[in-house]
Amino acid sequence: MKPPSLVVPKTPAEVARMRRAGRVAAVALREVARAVAPGVATEALDRLAETVIRDHGGVPSFKGYRGYPASICTSIDDEVVHGIPGPRVLREGELLSIDLGVRLEGFHADVAVTVPVGEVPPEVSRLIATTQAALDAGVAAARPGATLGDVSWAIQSVVEAAGFSAVRDFAGHGVGRALHEDPQVPNVGRPGTGPALRVGMTLAVEPMVNMGGPDVVMDDDGWTVRTRDHSLSAHAEHTVAVTAAGPEVLTRLDETAAVY
Ligand code: MF3
Ligand code: CO
Repeated sequence: MKPPSLVVPKTPAEVARMRRAGRVAAVALREVARAVAPGVATEALDRLAETVIRDHGGVPSFKGYRGYPASICTSIDDEVVHGIPGPRVLREGELLSIDLGVRLEGFHADVAVTVPVGEVPPEVSRLIATTQAALDAGVAAARPGATLGDVSWAIQSVVEAAGFSAVRDFAGHGVGRALHEDPQVPNVGRPGTGPALRVGMTLAVEPMVNMGGPDVVMDDDGWTVRTRDHSLSAHAEHTVAVTAAGPEVLTRLDETAAVY
């Protein structure tokens, strides 16, 4: 039997806290993304992220989460999500997904982006752009009166129109006092289905997009998820509040420059 859904709507004051957590997460992710270059080890990116997060009064959400050993996830090429930073050095032409969470004032914000390491082929740029467009479409659908299926369909349709696959075995999620709250936010679904979206819901929308098939496998480390067919994969994520005026992105990477 399915357990009851435990969606926790946020008050405006709580959304304000999440907005501050989201701003720190966005700033930290931007700093990490800027540091990406051939020759950089992913563990150096992890240290940078933790420093920026703590300098702004936050705590890395991921560190210690179910025993996860780092502050960010770094997923390279056919790695989909949850790659663990380490001594591996980035090389020209690779594709790097960076996922980062911040807890501040008791609330989490979760954000991810995929960036090229140096120059990548046009098809890889198209994968990155499609993933970002799928995220934007999912976010735009997160308005009161819509359903969760509308968000999922918005993502899936952008991904599939581009000839890529949305990962089905992992999904976005509610986010708030806990990093992962109800509901799950799948990256595939049918419009008009699922629970209605209501003001105060805060969602992590996070398309994971494979160049080949949708299937994924887990590495022996128990964390790293990769494509079964070893095709490249990209990931993008925002933390979004459903407001009466529509979706508010709490982790926007631009706009943050003025704040710091
Ligand atoms: N954004 C990732 C997710 O929602 C965060 C994973 S936390 C980790 O799945 F600790 F497991 F890495
Ligand atoms: Co997430």
